[in-house]
Amino acid sequence: MAQRIPEETIEQIRSQSDIVDVIGEYMQLTKRGRNYFGLCPFHGEQTPSFSVSVDKQIFHCFGCGAGGNAITFLMDIDNLSFQEAVAKLGEKAGIEVDVAEHQHHHHVVENVSPAEQKMLEAHAFCGEYYKHLLLNTEDGEQALQYLENRGFTREMIEAYGIGYALPNWDSLTTLLSRKGFDLEMMAEAGLIIRKEDGTGYFDRFRHRVMFPIRDETSKIIAFSGRIIDQSGENAKYMNSPESPIFHKGKVLYNLDQARPVIRKKRKIVLFEGFMDVLSAKKAEVHNGVASMGTALTIEQIQKLKRLSNEIIICYDGDNAGWEAAKRAADLLKAEKFSIEVALLPNGLDPDDYIRQFGAQLFQDKIIGEPLDLTSFMLTYSKRHKNFQYATDIEQYIEEAISYIAVDASIVKRELYMKQLAQETGVSEETLAVQLRHKAQQQQSRQSTEPQNVAVQMPKMTRKLTAIDRAERLILAMMLDNRDRVYAFQQEEEQIPFVREEYKAIFNELVDFYEQHEQADFHRFAEGLEDRNLRKIIMEAALVDRDPDHAEEEWSDCIRQVDKYKIQQLIAQRKQELKEAEKSHDFIRTLKISQEVIELTRSLAYL
Ligand code: UTP
Ligand code: MN
Repeated sequence: MAQRIPEETIEQIRSQSDIVDVIGEYMQLTKRGRNYFGLCPFHGEQTPSFSVSVDKQIFHCFGCGAGGNAITFLMDIDNLSFQEAVAKLGEKAGIEVDVAEHQHHHHVVENVSPAEQKMLEAHAFCGEYYKHLLLNTEDGEQALQYLENRGFTREMIEAYGIGYALPNWDSLTTLLSRKGFDLEMMAEAGLIIRKEDGTGYFDRFRHRVMFPIRDETSKIIAFSGRIIDQSGENAKYMNSPESPIFHKGKVLYNLDQARPVIRKKRKIVLFEGFMDVLSAKKAEVHNGVASMGTALTIEQIQKLKRLSNEIIICYDGDNAGWEAAKRAADLLKAEKFSIEVALLPNGLDPDDYIRQFGAQLFQDKIIGEPLDLTSFMLTYSKRHKNFQYATDIEQYIEEAISYIAVDASIVKRELYMKQLAQETGVSEETLAVQLRHKAQQQQSRQSTEPQNVAVQMPKMTRKLTAIDRAERLILAMMLDNRDRVYAFQQEEEQIPFVREEYKAIFNELVDFYEQHEQADFHRFAEGLEDRNLRKIIMEAALVDRDPDHAEEEWSDCIRQVDKYKIQQLIAQRKQELKEAEKSHDFIRTLKISQEVIELTRSLAYL
């Protein structure tokens, strides 16, 4: 990330802000000893596990692990970029930062041109106009009736600013013109359309129920109009076209309203259509968002990622919905989301389901009991396959195993293998051979990418807490001493971390120390986009340490990690040994056994 605010300014702002003041504006803090406590704003809780340390100027939640300093707090809670957060803090301290200069395509404070400003104004005005027609005029009665039939309450209509467009060809055009809006600009904004013969303009939306589409800051940037009497060839929904203020691929419907709920629940529900988002609210699902009639884009995913990495995909139960869900799942998986899929029966969409079975069942059975990703992938792969044909079975096994092999949980892997054996009638042993094969393939593919080597290694969960502590302590010491990092940076294998996140942090830290002479974990954490990594850093920074025995602690932790790595290696070799034995490869068997013995022996010297 380009750092354009001068370091001195950042430093000045930081030194003049107090974390207790900053956080205190968002939540109630109670003083206890030297620290402050409160209910964590990042997850729902009854008893306060959120603490703010005045000495260290950082916060930490023991419940959800959120942590950071004043700047990252603002980044997380207000969904700001680093520059914006610094500017906001500066404002409080009376130090001005020109954010516009530092802004890169960020929506919240993005520089809006005068023309765009006018377009936004026009949309706000149209929103009011449509709403007025719906709620207060005779012309709007049919539309209002339609909405009531679909179960919209008055409260919902008002909260979402739903409206109605008259059937006339020029009502809005005339009104906009009378209000002094430039019609050519209004056409560019998509509200009206230029006549082909060039003699003027006419209204784009006629006799439709109007749903405003808002950006993250709740400004109306477009409309979607739903037809009231479905007759003729007119499209069911008519959306505003792309315009300087409306980029379909970037917008998520309801993101503005869902954001605080997503933060609190730490989970997103993704729907296919905005009508589903609105229906789901009847079932108390308030963390729903939807793309605007297009497939999910990377830009939308990036937006979501800043809020949470847990997501439930709830798409229509028809064929198109399944395909779209699979595609969305693949994209989200690549962005490291933890994914669940809520399946709807019989080709229904969420709105149909709620109308047929009620809000309670939707909440309990659909959103409440989603499939995990592997399970969804298996079900997906089974569709359109006929197990009377051996080739279909074979293909299913091939696909299923490739999904099972990457499932993070060993227990689940075993359960799915059992299920697979039952479904296909193929023995568990045969399937197990296939799985190992697959796992090896994936492993060798990954070992070319140094970042992922450990992922496929057998996990030793029991040891994890000890190793967890060791890694954290090592990181803590590296965070305030540059030399501790330099001891390692040469060799990838030597890096004293096991988990991928820690290795990633290590690499970032090497970069950081190349640019900064002084250790400064605040500065370091702020520079990282990944919230998860920031969390880990802050946790490490909070660890209590014994300064009198630093060297002992250090070598102790390093030993722990080395030991763990060897244990992992032994476990891996033993796996290979089993396979070699099975295939009667005696030379290999012997070679691996010797390696295991040597590795085990080397453990004793640690
Ligand atoms: P659906 O056809 O699933 O609509 O389209 P829906 O959400 O069930 O709506 P109702 O219940 O029939 O009123 C899903 C999404 O695809 C886009 C819209 O964004 C819609 O929300 N769409 C659909 C269009 O843009 N134009 C259309 O003609 C139809
Ligand atoms: Mn529908």
